[in-house]
Amino acid sequence: MILNESAVRHDMEKLVDQITAVVSEAFEIAGFDPALGKCAQSNRPDLCQYQCNGAMAGAKLYHQPPFQIAQKVVDVLSAEPMFEKVETVRPGFINMDVALDYLAGLLNEMREDDRCGVPVAEHPLTIIVDYGGANVAKPLHVGHLRSAIIGEAIKRIARFQGHTVIGDVHLGDWGLQMGQIITELRCRRPELPYFDAGYSGPYPEEAPFTISDLEEIYPCASGKSKADPAYKEAAQQATAELQAGRPGYRALWQHIINVSVADLKKNYDKLDVHFDLWKGESDAQPYIPAMVERMKAEGYAYLSDGALVVDVQEEGDTREIPPCMILKSDGAVQYETTDLATIIQRQQDYHPDRIIYLTDKRQELHFVRTFRCAYKTGLVDKDKTELTFIGFGTMNGKDGKPFKTREGGVLRLEYLLKDVSDAVYAKSKAANPSLTEAELQEIADKVGLAAIKYGDLSNQPSKDYVFDVDRFTAFEGNTGPYIMYTMVRIKSILSRFFAEKPDAEPTAILPPESRKETDLYLALARFQDAIEDAYTQNAPNRLCHYIYELSNALNAFYADHNIMKEQDAQRQGSWILLVQLVLKVLELSVDLVGFSAPDKM
Ligand code: ARG
Repeated sequence: MILNESAVRHDMEKLVDQITAVVSEAFEIAGFDPALGKCAQSNRPDLCQYQCNGAMAGAKLYHQPPFQIAQKVVDVLSAEPMFEKVETVRPGFINMDVALDYLAGLLNEMREDDRCGVPVAEHPLTIIVDYGGANVAKPLHVGHLRSAIIGEAIKRIARFQGHTVIGDVHLGDWGLQMGQIITELRCRRPELPYFDAGYSGPYPEEAPFTISDLEEIYPCASGKSKADPAYKEAAQQATAELQAGRPGYRALWQHIINVSVADLKKNYDKLDVHFDLWKGESDAQPYIPAMVERMKAEGYAYLSDGALVVDVQEEGDTREIPPCMILKSDGAVQYETTDLATIIQRQQDYHPDRIIYLTDKRQELHFVRTFRCAYKTGLVDKDKTELTFIGFGTMNGKDGKPFKTREGGVLRLEYLLKDVSDAVYAKSKAANPSLTEAELQEIADKVGLAAIKYGDLSNQPSKDYVFDVDRFTAFEGNTGPYIMYTMVRIKSILSRFFAEKPDAEPTAILPPESRKETDLYLALARFQDAIEDAYTQNAPNRLCHYIYELSNALNAFYADHNIMKEQDAQRQGSWILLVQLVLKVLELSVDLVGFSAPDKM
């Protein structure tokens, strides 16, 4: 029976679920539906920690005043050791504070668990995260940066839950930009064997260009393509020939991919973003002919003004959803076509339970049409595979317009990273002149990355935000560096303590004594909720919010409690274990959003 069960109820159930279980049982014992016992974190932490509003709903069901119902339940709970305080508040709220020894028990369990109490998914899913989305040979733009940062966090969070998560960069490697580059190379170096239609290989292994060449060639070709209709036609022709399999163009294309991917990998590595698959639009092409035939044969696809389309408008739509375009009137494959074929490929290779796509929210309509078409034509069984689109907002500059580099051009990731880490370097050097050059470099890299990623991820993905180097690199406030600083602070407390007392072996976290201690315990006990929220809502910002809350609770506690000067060895040991646990939870959390702390700062 609950009344004499004083140990933590279930291994590592979330605290709020443990409370709900106890309160539900009390409802039942008092003669009411246990479903009324659902509890939540209080939105008035000044009054209580947790609350239950079930008596209000029970009033209608049982024709009793809510206060009376609540009181009966509270009577049952009055001997429950899980609570420090349980009380009824008019009109019928049940307010609870958790018993201090119960909280301590919970933290000691978290401490002994590698995962700090986060359960592994009971039914692990296979999830593909389609993110990054860079286009071969075109410069990365801000949208790609956000896709990489948010997608990486979503991937890591799902993986931590125990799901099989496959990250795919889904390169744009099949579009007109390829034909444009081929055309430009042909103008510049017509003598190369790739352009000799009579030559059948083998082609040179070495690419006839470097990444810097490509970076100059693409904008040049794309500019000419816009200005000169004949050039544009040549580029389109080259694209069509490449797609039809012309050997010289295929060989050249492979060079472009190799050179470009090597450079992209370098950039993504710097961001600590890693893909399991480097597939691209080109990989889906072989699936297109059979898919198109089937859509036609089964009557889903029909000709409209010469184009092959599938209607995806649905009853109840409040806006017009144009048909999904499968083939243009000239037979050209569309963005939708490739995404549909990619779904077929992914189904065959991985049988995913879910595919999550991350792009700028301006692509939303594309995904609505693609998903509808995939479900309608039976490429995907709605009950088996969930297609999810996460559209994110724009990263703006201080002027409120989409972020541009100093030169006014599109984003060069290296420059962005450099600006931020330079700012961190300067600040750290000024703040702590004793740091060595190597330490400063590590800080600049790690804290710089934290500044960028946290600056992004602390916002709801769908919102636009302003990229502001000064604000993002501030050591105070809701910033990556503040979180890093908190972690480094704990590391330094721990190393000072163990330097002073190398033999100390603290054994247990004791029940909290002060309000700030209790707040910190409660913040730790919310870790599982934060992870679950971030996962179920695809919202790394939830985890960032938690990281910030926990850091604040730690710093508030530390301001009031001098760990190093504490005379009571047991209490001191308890605090050491407490801050150790905070560090462990923070380390897990920041790793899930994609960065890590240096040892010093
Ligand atoms: N390459 C695309 C772009 O730059 C993004 C690809 C997103 N993924 C997808 N399956 N469509 O906009």
